[in-house]
Amino acid sequence: MKVGVIGYGSMGKMLLEKLSLNSDLVDGKLYVANRSYEKIVDLAEEYQLCQNNQEIATLVDILFICVRPIDMKNVLEEIKNCLRKEQIIVTLNGSITFEQIEGICKNKIVKAIPSVMAEINKSQTLICCNSMVNEQDKAIMKDLLSCIGSVIELPESEMGMGSELVSCMPGFIAAIFNEICISAQKHTSIATEEVVQMVLNTMIGTGQLMIENNC
Ligand SMILES: NC(=O)c1ccc[n+]([C@@H]2O[C@H](COP(=O)([O-])OP(=O)(O)OC[C@H]3O[C@@H](n4cnc5c(N)ncnc54)[C@H](OP(=O)(O)O)[C@@H]3O)[C@@H](O)[C@H]2O)c1
Repeated sequence: MKVGVIGYGSMGKMLLEKLSLNSDLVDGKLYVANRSYEKIVDLAEEYQLCQNNQEIATLVDILFICVRPIDMKNVLEEIKNCLRKEQIIVTLNGSITFEQIEGICKNKIVKAIPSVMAEINKSQTLICCNSMVNEQDKAIMKDLLSCIGSVIELPESEMGMGSELVSCMPGFIAAIFNEICISAQKHTSIATEEVVQMVLNTMIGTGQLMIENNC
């Protein structure tokens, strides 16, 4: 499948890198377009560069839109007349509803929320799909996004809680980790690096054990 990304920012860059390394589903080079063309101009060896959003929207089967929420409406307005019914449009923004997107383009829409662990291919990515996305499309999306970790599908109404759990949780866990290390050091002469290593390895091991024990 031909896959493209609009928006070469933090998420677009990460997705392009992960998809190009890890996905068998991608046919040929990935496509990329960005508002400031100078940001992508040196990437011609890695990716198929597109001059504008209409060009990329015409060429690909799956289009990731990785722009900030404030830019989303502009991008959808720009590409709406280039889209085909069979294409899948993926937005990384959880706060824009299907109703709002479908008000501009009535296509197959998938919302995908990766977590920060995508960097190490351990994202718990959430997806939700509008009514035009069929089971085969969902299977393709899950396969494609498995290059950054695991994928769970939720209904749109549960994406808020889902995002709290997967996007905010790394911050909470890191804060708890920090608190444990600081408290422990007040009561021990064990070296800081060893305290950190003990708590970190115990957290990782606990998580792995819980996964293996299905709890
Ligand atoms: N960052 C995260 O950890 C994270 C996690 C999950 C979801 N998300 C979501 O992912 C989306 C992207 O976030 P981000 O952090 O990657 O944003 P970002 O780093 O600010 O990147 C946005 C990119 O979009 C480009 N852009 C803006 N308007 C455009 C247009 N009309 N046509 C083409 N390109 C355009 C910008 O180009 P310029 O170079 O011209 O500025 C920029 O390269 C957001 O909806 C965010 O909520 C982010």
